[in-house]
Amino acid sequence: MSNPLLLRGSRAAAALIGRRRAGGTDGLPGVRPAVQRRFIIDTSYSTHFMDFKGSSIPSSMKKLVVTKLSQDFREAVTVRTVPVPTPGDAELLVRNRFVGINASDINYSAGRYDPSVKPPFGAGFEGIGEVVGLGLSASSRYTVGDTVAYFGSGGAFAEYTVIPAKEGVPVPCVKPEFLTLLVSGATAYIALKRLGDLANGETVLVTAAAGGTGQFAVQFAKRAGCHVIGTCSSDEKAGFLKSIGCDRPINYSTEDLAKTLRKEYPKGVDVVYESVGGSVLELAVNSLANKGRLIVIGFISGYQTASGIAPFKGGTLPVKLLQKSASMRGFFLPHFIGDYKEALSSMMQMFAKGELVCEVDCGDMAEEGRFVGLESIFRAVDYMYAGRNLGKVVVEVAPPTADKSKL
Ligand SMILES: NC(=O)c1ccc[n+]([C@@H]2O[C@H](COP(=O)([O-])OP(=O)(O)OC[C@H]3O[C@@H](n4cnc5c(N)ncnc54)[C@H](OP(=O)(O)O)[C@@H]3O)[C@@H](O)[C@H]2O)c1
Repeated sequence: MSNPLLLRGSRAAAALIGRRRAGGTDGLPGVRPAVQRRFIIDTSYSTHFMDFKGSSIPSSMKKLVVTKLSQDFREAVTVRTVPVPTPGDAELLVRNRFVGINASDINYSAGRYDPSVKPPFGAGFEGIGEVVGLGLSASSRYTVGDTVAYFGSGGAFAEYTVIPAKEGVPVPCVKPEFLTLLVSGATAYIALKRLGDLANGETVLVTAAAGGTGQFAVQFAKRAGCHVIGTCSSDEKAGFLKSIGCDRPINYSTEDLAKTLRKEYPKGVDVVYESVGGSVLELAVNSLANKGRLIVIGFISGYQTASGIAPFKGGTLPVKLLQKSASMRGFFLPHFIGDYKEALSSMMQMFAKGELVCEVDCGDMAEEGRFVGLESIFRAVDYMYAGRNLGKVVVEVAPPTADKSKL
């Protein structure tokens, strides 16, 4: 089986995550160690326009940079002090308040997304914060002080990030809940809509159900009138799953998953939203009902290995699928960008109406406490890989701007 994360030449993937920007890590040799304050930058009105309206933007900032390819995030990534990047004509400079952690942050640091991208490059897929600078054409849609979320610009794990204005998602305020929708929510929404073919009364199994994307798969399957089963590793997560409508949470650390599925769902499950891989994927295939659909969302149980894939016994897979007229379908968010706008606006509306729970885990219950500051991203990644998170893992990069009038 080839590694589906090796998307050499995939334009969509490159557009989403593989981009290195001018003013990003390319500027490393010119690092100025001391943080100097600069109040207004006016670099050539002929090419672009920046208006900081008196806000004080430092000349340098901290940023997480992948300096060595490795699935071990701590080994791969270094905190660097680099110049604050300058936005181009159609770009925004965003002061990041919160950034989202994704299971694939370690696939990215291992170079599995785009093998042509060589270190050093910026880590992190998504952030939310305030616009503090912008180019002239970007100013037709944005102004300094706007709140914006974004994903895909390979470099969110930084105090400031430059993003193309067209990739910004305007948000009413800087709530970390909005950050849960950009990748985790959108993945569940679009994957189930486009590949799930959910029908009222069907049974849906969601693995890693209490995590970033799993929580949304549970809620969307429930909204479609399905009976939802969700796997998780603790009673606390099982309680959370109940609270968001999951009919049958299965805490696999105290209940045997295979036995439970066999006993309680003898006809099998119609749809699986599968994120774990390896033996869980095998079990999910074996648990499919006739005409069942298994959506491959990820295989986190293999990400920390050198190959990135957990062992999977696929020899009899064609027989199993044929005998049940079942199918396995892969889903990768960047391939569904055409669905993205509708997905986001629909989820925003549900959230505004109180119809969607966007659970955020900022590490308040973590041993060393809440994830605050860029350096705590390392702890946040470890926390996710220890299976500790309930909801989407989010790091608070910076406190709110003290004096809004300065923006
Ligand atoms: N295809 C796409 O476009 C796309 C987009 C976003 C995410 N994803 C995939 O969705 C999955 C979840 O990603 P996420 O960012 O939302 O993470 P997450 O679900 O918030 O966190 C990971 C969870 O996975 C569970 N898990 C099960 N086995 C694990 C293992 N061996 N090691 C670590 N965790 C394990 C843990 O929950 P329990 O302990 O409760 O089992 C853990 O809390 C990943 O496979 C990711 O690659 C895919």
